[in-house]
Amino acid sequence: MTEVNSLPPGARTALVIGGTRGLGRQLALRTRDSGLTTHVYGRSAHRTEEADQGFVPHELDLCDPVSVAAAPVTAPGPLYVFWVAGAFLKKPLARTADEDIEALTRLLLTGPLRLLRRILDAAPAQVHLVTIASSSGWRRRENEALYCALKAAQATVTRGLVPELVEDHPASRVTVVNPGGLAVPDFHSGLEIDYGTMMDPAEVAGIIWRTVREQTTSYTEMQILRSREPGREGVPLVSFGARAPEPPL
Ligand SMILES: NC(=O)c1ccc[n+]([C@@H]2O[C@H](COP(=O)([O-])OP(=O)(O)OC[C@H]3O[C@@H](n4cnc5c(N)ncnc54)[C@H](OP(=O)(O)O)[C@@H]3O)[C@@H](O)[C@H]2O)c1
Repeated sequence: MTEVNSLPPGARTALVIGGTRGLGRQLALRTRDSGLTTHVYGRSAHRTEEADQGFVPHELDLCDPVSVAAAPVTAPGPLYVFWVAGAFLKKPLARTADEDIEALTRLLLTGPLRLLRRILDAAPAQVHLVTIASSSGWRRRENEALYCALKAAQATVTRGLVPELVEDHPASRVTVVNPGGLAVPDFHSGLEIDYGTMMDPAEVAGIIWRTVREQTTSYTEMQILRSREPGREGVPLVSFGARAPEPPL
């Protein structure tokens, strides 16, 4: 069976879940500029500039099951599916409202899984699933237990999908990406962050897209961590393979 990467750009489609801002937007720009029909999903997808910039926009609220069930998921031919949407939460669990637990779980896990189930069920050919998890899935963090757990779950569920994707289409591919801190002020709103020491999302998107296009194995997992070396702060450091969780203390 033909690999997605070996097909001409016009025969391929990219669906970017969370393609309206941040890292997802940068990935959508890469796929669009490579000639792929690029669908972007998000709550703000119906801004007029989306269609003007050559994207196919789909308004989607992952926290709303009705919106998830109604989002268009059919696209012709082999697909790249980028699972990127997310939000951050830094708060002790004891001070986190039930509604916030529910909303973050819907945004980072159950909403995307429902959407992905529909995408995979409708996919006419092989799929290359690219999941943007996080180094927070294995790093020791404080007051981020729920966020870290959901990012770890996102990576785990994606690894678990590999056998069934490959069984459906032997040429399907899966990439799990664990980035460290990105210079995306929207994501860290309310927190004091030195963005000069964080990674440029455009550069990280370029690394991801290059890795995805060159991937020949069914499954790849990568870490993209920021350098903390003086004078090289924020430079992306790429390595391959999963990481064991750090001890909590
Ligand atoms: N920033 C970092 O330092 C960092 C580090 C490691 C991993 N990550 C991961 O990278 C991913 C992207 O983060 P980012 O930094 O690019 O954040 P961002 O700029 O805040 O973008 C978040 C994206 O998620 C979408 N989104 C948020 N809530 C949504 C909802 N309820 N329904 C549908 N879409 C929703 C947003 O679209 P709308 O606003 O249009 O809904 C937007 O496209 C996240 O999964 C995050 O966990 C980020």
